Amino acid sequence: MKSLPLRILLPGLAFGAALWLAAAPSVTGLLRQANGEVLLTSAADAGAYYRIETSDTLGQWTPFLTVRSNGNDQVLDVAAPHHGRRFYRAVEVPGTNVFTGDHLQTDSGDAILRPIGHASVVVSWNGKTLYSDPSDLNNNGPRFTGLPLADVIVVTHTHGDHFSTSRLNLLVKADTGIFAPQAVFNGMPTTNVPGLSFTLRSRTTVLANGASGSAHGMTVRAIAMYNLSNNNHPQGVGNGYVVTMGGKNLYFSGDTEGIPEMRALTNIDAAFLCMSLPSNMTVDAAASAVRQFRPRIVFPYHFAQSGTTFDTQRFKDLVGTDLGIEVRRRTFY
Ligand SMILES: [Fe+2]
Repeated sequence: MKSLPLRILLPGLAFGAALWLAAAPSVTGLLRQANGEVLLTSAADAGAYYRIETSDTLGQWTPFLTVRSNGNDQVLDVAAPHHGRRFYRAVEVPGTNVFTGDHLQTDSGDAILRPIGHASVVVSWNGKTLYSDPSDLNNNGPRFTGLPLADVIVVTHTHGDHFSTSRLNLLVKADTGIFAPQAVFNGMPTTNVPGLSFTLRSRTTVLANGASGSAHGMTVRAIAMYNLSNNNHPQGVGNGYVVTMGGKNLYFSGDTEGIPEMRALTNIDAAFLCMSLPSNMTVDAAASAVRQFRPRIVFPYHFAQSGTTFDTQRFKDLVGTDLGIEVRRRTFY
């Protein structure tokens, strides 16, 4: 592999601004890995928020990740092998409850994609908030603290690590749009959400596999999700989802094996893909499916089950770098 230049953009300050420098976030180191990826280290005051941005030209900066600093932070830039030159900078983000996560540029500003835990994900986009499978299982409860109420919620199936009426009750408001399969609707109470004058059912649109709906500027398309080798998730009962926002397509697999409907997906910009047994599939099967439908970015999620954590590094190795698919391993547990 050819050697490629990396640059850290340093704040252009004169000596004497020591106090300002001590508080400002900065990129402190870049370490090129054997496969061309870059391990980036950065620093800020613990608890401060900042955004890491990348640039190939120094003329235009692309937001990559918003983080809450631990003091010294590390992140792997898996896109680096596909760029000739790569510059990095850290930009302070003022505030006390900043929405952190991976940035995805859309036609209407950045979507920020944030793991909650296990199969639960939250996305902030265009002033709206999307939740996929919000559930308190797997110690998720505290991770909802400080997050906004939901504008859109997609629920894949009835299992407790995906569907939790108690968490839905805490997230809904009068104009929330919930999308769910019939079995999830049937599992919702017929009584009002505690403290509110409507039911979860009244906010829910039932989607069968292949059907679509929309709310708050997002389009939601239900994708099949089922097992091929057992009956843990029968065909036609649950939904995966493709949610389109600002021209970008986000895929949430739910619990499934690498079914033909997944493999036939096209133009997926970011995929949240399950792996684990017996609910889903091996990392080898997940990698095989990903190499066929080729999302631009894939986040392994739902990768621990029954006390076993599946090897997302092996998943990443199997996906490889030749197709330009970014495997971003984030904290889900
Ligand atoms: Fe599950």
